[in-house]
Amino acid sequence: MADGLLSRRRFLAAALGAGATTALAACGSSRITASSQRSPLTGPVSQEITLTARQTQVDMAGRAVTAWAYGPQVAAGGIRATAGDRVRITLRNDLPEETSVHWHGLAVPNAMDGVPGVTSPAVAPGGTFSYDFVVPDPGTHWFHPHTGLQLDTGLYAPFIVDDPRERGGYDHEWVLMLDDWTQGVGPDPQQIFDDLVAAGEQQGSGHMGGMHMGGMGMDGGDVAYSMFVINGRPPGDPDSLRVKAGDRVRMRIINAAADTIFTFAVGGHRMTVTHSDGYQVKPVRADSLRISMGERYDVLVDVGEGVFPVVAEPLGKVGEALALLRTVDGPAPGQRRPEGLSAYPVGIEALQSDPAVELPAAAPDVTYDLVLSGSMAPYVWMFNGVTHDRARPLMVSEGQKVRLRLSNMSMMSHPVHLHGHTFQVGPAGGGGARKDTLLLAPMARADVDLVADNPGAWMLHCHNAYHAEAGMMTRLDYST
Ligand code: C2O
Ligand code: CU
Repeated sequence: MADGLLSRRRFLAAALGAGATTALAACGSSRITASSQRSPLTGPVSQEITLTARQTQVDMAGRAVTAWAYGPQVAAGGIRATAGDRVRITLRNDLPEETSVHWHGLAVPNAMDGVPGVTSPAVAPGGTFSYDFVVPDPGTHWFHPHTGLQLDTGLYAPFIVDDPRERGGYDHEWVLMLDDWTQGVGPDPQQIFDDLVAAGEQQGSGHMGGMHMGGMGMDGGDVAYSMFVINGRPPGDPDSLRVKAGDRVRMRIINAAADTIFTFAVGGHRMTVTHSDGYQVKPVRADSLRISMGERYDVLVDVGEGVFPVVAEPLGKVGEALALLRTVDGPAPGQRRPEGLSAYPVGIEALQSDPAVELPAAAPDVTYDLVLSGSMAPYVWMFNGVTHDRARPLMVSEGQKVRLRLSNMSMMSHPVHLHGHTFQVGPAGGGGARKDTLLLAPMARADVDLVADNPGAWMLHCHNAYHAEAGMMTRLDYST
């Protein structure tokens, strides 16, 4: 065990050295297959966007916090496009270290996927890189770096893609990015990771460590955070949306946290869940919603009269993230824990795909098992018994129907995320939701089906940033 840990740490140390690939980088074969069928770049560019990754001072309820972000505010700098638009997005790196951008949920051509060492290059400090692609998938998506632990610094923003065929039918839209916050107020992500590894070593040798370790509960994540935010704002200074009573609001909820699953509810209201990971589901009424790292849900709310807390409660951790939905002025309500949080939350098992976005029923051409395992002591997380530096990509050919049989053999939850594709939970055509990120509870199993229609080398990893860093990554690669 110590050997695996040491070699992984050595790998990480090497990865952090002299311009080498980062930890969220290559494993196994490094052949990159260019996309043959997606998005030929023939049309005019409909949007030229510059995105600057930088250090910035943000005001968090009166406290000056040094964050990393894509704009002057955390969760600002979001992108909005219409499916079919060609966008050219130039990333400027004003950070003191290498970075990258991955378009989470968008099945872009492989070379634009933003994974240093696998697809696009790392962008050096002071450097730029232009991502140029036709926006493929309508829905609520987002972007973040695919470089080390930068996901936990505040570098994220929404990427909303409108469907020209969608009718709308709501009065307002509100994007809510949920996050667990440490940058500038607690240990930085690298310190958290080093402490997790050190605590794992001490526990392994019989000593107790674990300064930053989260709830002892099995779903409580690995890290205790002192702050939870919505759109970069802590509960002391919540983001708010003002509407008229009777208005219908579409909330686009994105969990950008590194290590926190949230339960989400709106005080005094039920929600209607309409989309998961950007794809339509058969509408379901919900008092509360479970949302794991990397997932998105869209809900509709018909707003009553008053000031209503919008709360994301971290599972197994102390604290809350808060925003306010209001039709009148005045203070936030004193009792602000929505009753809905006590109801059993709607999660992915309660949702069914809208027939319009189902995959056609088909038996798989190829089936892969993906076993999730690992532990806190030593702090190692794996797919199929190996960390990413030793992982062999799952190989597919273009046009194949692929089934992944996921089984979580660990006592922690893991949101499993696949780049470049959207799978269907359960068998293709079987009615399960379309997703790119699926939460597996401790000891849970799930099959997902997908069509191999976007050639390249694609990351498949746990969206817990610390689990990914500790090895829980592999790839889905196309053979030519
Ligand atoms: Cu949200 Cu590999 O990413
Ligand atoms: Cu995990």
